[in-house]
Amino acid sequence: LMSISDLTPAEFTRLVLNASSHKKAVKDAFAAGQTPPKPLHGAMTGKTVAMMFSKRSTRTRVSTEAAVQLMGGHPMFLGKDDIQLGVNESLHDTSVVISSMTSCMVARVGPHSDVTGLAASSSVPVINALSSDFHPLQTIADFQTIHESLSSTPTSSSLGLEGLKIAWVGDSNNVLFDLAIASVKMGVHIAVASPTGYGIPPAMRQTILAAAEGVANPGKLTETTVPEEAIKDADILVTDTWVSMGQEEEAKKRLAAFKGYQITHELAERGGAKPNWKFMHCLPRHPEEVDDAVFYDESRSLVFPEAENRLWAAVSALEAFVVNKGKIL
Ligand code: CP
Ligand code: NVA
Repeated sequence: LMSISDLTPAEFTRLVLNASSHKKAVKDAFAAGQTPPKPLHGAMTGKTVAMMFSKRSTRTRVSTEAAVQLMGGHPMFLGKDDIQLGVNESLHDTSVVISSMTSCMVARVGPHSDVTGLAASSSVPVINALSSDFHPLQTIADFQTIHESLSSTPTSSSLGLEGLKIAWVGDSNNVLFDLAIASVKMGVHIAVASPTGYGIPPAMRQTILAAAEGVANPGKLTETTVPEEAIKDADILVTDTWVSMGQEEEAKKRLAAFKGYQITHELAERGGAKPNWKFMHCLPRHPEEVDDAVFYDESRSLVFPEAENRLWAAVSALEAFVVNKGKIL
């Protein structure tokens, strides 16, 4: 799983619905003092998942370790200073060796080509845990969160989100790109407001638009440099850090470029968001991109359920790609 582009709309829908139903079943079982119910209980017994992280992580690391443990497997965390990769050993050799001993690699990398390179040399499934271009596990959790909070007419095979509008206000980055691909596939409109010079790169725009192929009612992608334009009639306001990991040296320049993009109640009102608008953020969060009043607004902010849903997204993805060997049932 490199990106949401790898999935058909039906497969993506299934991963989100499975995440949501596993969440309910496991929570009910835990509340009753029981072990996780089948089909999860023991589904990964004897399996090791190598977690190769070249960057910091709270949610992705904890959710992946907890998900593997919940299914009876062994998560093996390999930080950048723990293995020979990049110092004494190539991506190819590392991938061949680690995949010969484990059942899956979950990798957080810098350039996207690092995770596709790992996958190309691997004999086991590889899951992208964040690259320069994509963050598919985050997107599964985000759509689970939207489905659980805003779904109109969910069925056993649809998320019921067609016609909703997301406004992304901030940096055009890895989290946005998979969110936009999923939005197009799910019939959710996505309006992106980024400052000049921080918009969606042309090749990525093509990838996002290509997600509409074969979709009866795809979501529309619109782009602007004016936050208020994107926010008009939006159901959900979303942002992320203005300085992603690896961009620390650009921090000063970026903070200046994004002035006026902070999400506040005043901006949402000025832009004309829907009265019942919600707020989402993948975290970690800094106050410059969203103020405390919105971030901690219990009637609007979905950030903590969104973070918790990373666990259920990880369970769903590991079940599909490792337990069911890529069959998304
Ligand atoms: N949202 C997310 O991926 O968070 P971490 O960087 O803490 O894993
Ligand atoms: N865009 C952020 C996401 C972190 C989860 C980054 O790449 O650092």
